[in-house]
Amino acid sequence: MATSTKKPSGNGATTAASIPGNRIVTLDEFIIRSEKDFEYATGELTGLLRDIGVAAKIINREVNKAGLVNILGASDSGENTSGDMQQKLDVYANEKLIECLKNSGECCAVASEENKDIILVPQVGSKKSHYVVMFDPLDGSSNIDVNVSVGTIFAIYRRKSDPNGPATIEDFLQPGTRQVAAGYVLYGTSTILVYTTGNGVNGFTLDPSIGEFCLSHRNMRIPENGQTYSVNQGYYSKFDLEMRRYIDQCSDMNYGLRYIGSMVSDVHRILIQGGIFLYPSTRKYPKGKLRLLYECNPLSMIVEQAGGKAINTQLKRILDMVPSELHQRGTIAIGSPAMVDELQAFIERYSALPL
Ligand code: AHG
Ligand code: MN
Ligand code: MN
Repeated sequence: MATSTKKPSGNGATTAASIPGNRIVTLDEFIIRSEKDFEYATGELTGLLRDIGVAAKIINREVNKAGLVNILGASDSGENTSGDMQQKLDVYANEKLIECLKNSGECCAVASEENKDIILVPQVGSKKSHYVVMFDPLDGSSNIDVNVSVGTIFAIYRRKSDPNGPATIEDFLQPGTRQVAAGYVLYGTSTILVYTTGNGVNGFTLDPSIGEFCLSHRNMRIPENGQTYSVNQGYYSKFDLEMRRYIDQCSDMNYGLRYIGSMVSDVHRILIQGGIFLYPSTRKYPKGKLRLLYECNPLSMIVEQAGGKAINTQLKRILDMVPSELHQRGTIAIGSPAMVDELQAFIERYSALPL
């Protein structure tokens, strides 16, 4: 994994394994302990991860009572005594993330699925920030109304522009290999925050009784192989021929089909149990539907850091793609390394066949 801030290996970097296993380790403690692993250990990255953790707790609180809010009768005017509760949850999540990141001034700009352009973060005091953050504030938001898991995805990059001036779009249009940290929060049966800074992947489950994310999944490793595939098979007839044939093969091999429709949830399951997630091109989305910068790249960094692979259907590594637009879409195949290799070999073999 090429990241700009990771120190070379063998530097005694903090790993989950180096933290005693017999006591509670909070996300904040883990982040602070890991700070020394970075070349530029100014505390900015630590602060950013902490800000995202705080925003995740606030979003979690609203996600958990989303149904209740509706039952209690949100007024048609969209206003009630407690203010923004009636906003669509993805707008709410977006606002909270931006708010938390702006308050501390640990990053100089953010970009979100919910905003067309980048948003500059005003300098707080004399602090000059070297980082930009981008996110999908609520992934799988159509699942909210039916009590199905949703998530938040984030990616952090070191800015390329001069820290004395404003951030630019170029700070965001960097290949995924330049991510210095990436992660997601899954608001599921329990809420878990999973992140990497290029030194492996760790997961922190929210303990609601103390309001803290606690280290629960140390040094996560994706299974080499799996028995399930995850794709919106409803679009089968809209997929390219080789993808249709690959899906036929999955079925012939008795692989189970699992598709939640929220990428965070589908990829989290695969990270833990193994499998492959696919979002190929369709007639509606010839370039793929998912967004490279705040969906595919951060999840690819996580999966690669856990020993998995992520490519697009042109068989290019996702993290090597050089983006040209903030909201660029791409195709993706991500998951257990043996399954991604198998897909790659299948497409190579299939496209070599005479028409
Ligand atoms: P979002 O809610 O952020 O717009 O993302 C939804 C994405 C992704 O999470 C999911 O995998 C995919 O859209 C589902 O798309 P289909 O309904 O086309 O399968
Ligand atoms: Mn999404
Ligand atoms: Mn979204």
